[in-house]
Amino acid sequence: MLSTLIYRSHLSAGVSLGALAHTIEKSRINNEKIHVTGILLFDGAHFFQVLEGPDASVSAVYERICHDKRHNNLVELMRDYAPARRFGHLGMELFDLRHYEKKRVLQAVLAKGTSRFNLTYDDRVLKFIRTFVEDDNKKPFINTAHLENWDLIQLPVTPRREYDNFQPGQNCQFALQPIVDVANKKVISFEALIRSPDGGSPVEYFSTLSKDALYKADLDSKRFAFALANKMGMVDQTISVNLLPMSLVTTKNAVDILLSEIKASGLVPEQVVVEVTEDEVISRFDEFDFAIKQLRSAGIGLAIDDFGAGFAGLSLLAKFQPEKVKIDRNIICDVHKSGPKQAIVQAIITCCTLLEITVIAEGIEKLEEWLWLEAAGIRYYQGFLFARPQLNGVSPVNWPIIKDE
Ligand SMILES: Cc1cc2nc3c(=O)[nH]c(=O)nc-3n(C[C@H](O)[C@H](O)[C@H](O)COP(=O)(O)O)c2cc1C
Repeated sequence: MLSTLIYRSHLSAGVSLGALAHTIEKSRINNEKIHVTGILLFDGAHFFQVLEGPDASVSAVYERICHDKRHNNLVELMRDYAPARRFGHLGMELFDLRHYEKKRVLQAVLAKGTSRFNLTYDDRVLKFIRTFVEDDNKKPFINTAHLENWDLIQLPVTPRREYDNFQPGQNCQFALQPIVDVANKKVISFEALIRSPDGGSPVEYFSTLSKDALYKADLDSKRFAFALANKMGMVDQTISVNLLPMSLVTTKNAVDILLSEIKASGLVPEQVVVEVTEDEVISRFDEFDFAIKQLRSAGIGLAIDDFGAGFAGLSLLAKFQPEKVKIDRNIICDVHKSGPKQAIVQAIITCCTLLEITVIAEGIEKLEEWLWLEAAGIRYYQGFLFARPQLNGVSPVNWPIIKDE
């Protein structure tokens, strides 16, 4: 299968294009051998390369390119398949934009095209090339801080770390995971994640329940999460609980039940955030709408969870503007390397900034992901990088810090 891959990157400090001349010559020979064409553009600081050829060969070359320390911040912009080659068997062509007029570069690139038919102005590849050539600001080229300058330090979260939380009638447990404000080294909320009685996963817990019992159990379980929050003596934080949207609809007076559980646990509604997702089709939308209004007017916070996954969350956002949107872990995973994911995150940030909605990135596991998200302007995070969920308690939090010189 013929594939096309486009990436961009930053020239590493202390490296010049001249120092790469030999590599480029070698690349030409190597690419020719494996029927790959590399169209490489360089503007003095950034590279932009189109790789075209058999799928496996393109992937193998890109893998090597990714490990080349002479450039950094590699972001894959496009991976697509085409019926025919856009470029002939050129091996490698370098266009150093510093020696070209803008108009001429496009003409020169077009001249390398296999046929006019393949390189029409509607072609995404050509649009990418044109943008790289014409956009002097290179706005999407977020320059993240260097990974090697960062470390993690582990600090305990006060107050105590483990609690004996069994209440009468308790048929589930909760693990708490902090949501953190890294700039201020503060935990802003604890998400209470449901576990089975012996600490098993949510799937394990919910699999023991019939469909009819599910929503009632989901709602009832929250009192154990509130009790845990109360035991911890939360002061500046909120407790975030997940609720299936249908739990708010199928149980009569669901919000009143929640409110009385909150009160009985010694908390106030403002200390609670309800996280909902759209992953379950909300079939009784008017009742759900009413329940959300009740939650909001009682002072309970609202967050859209898993934003960007499955059912996207966009219709929930259009209908209710929550205080918080949590970007789904699948979008966050390897965001530092993916152009499409970066575009989605930037769009979410723009949208939420316009609506004064707090953005939380969840599922952060790598320092590189955090460095990119931080540079993009996100402030609140949740994920294994910072702290794993801890059954009936809170594990210490890892905070990113700049290494001492
Ligand atoms: C901007 C840039 C573009 C590159 N393009 C190619 C290429 O198209 N083909 C290639 O074989 N190597 C290319 N390289 C070189 C590879 O990164 C790597 O050094 C080379 O494939 C040798 O890999 P090896 O040392 O694992 O054998 C490029 C390097 C840079 C910095």
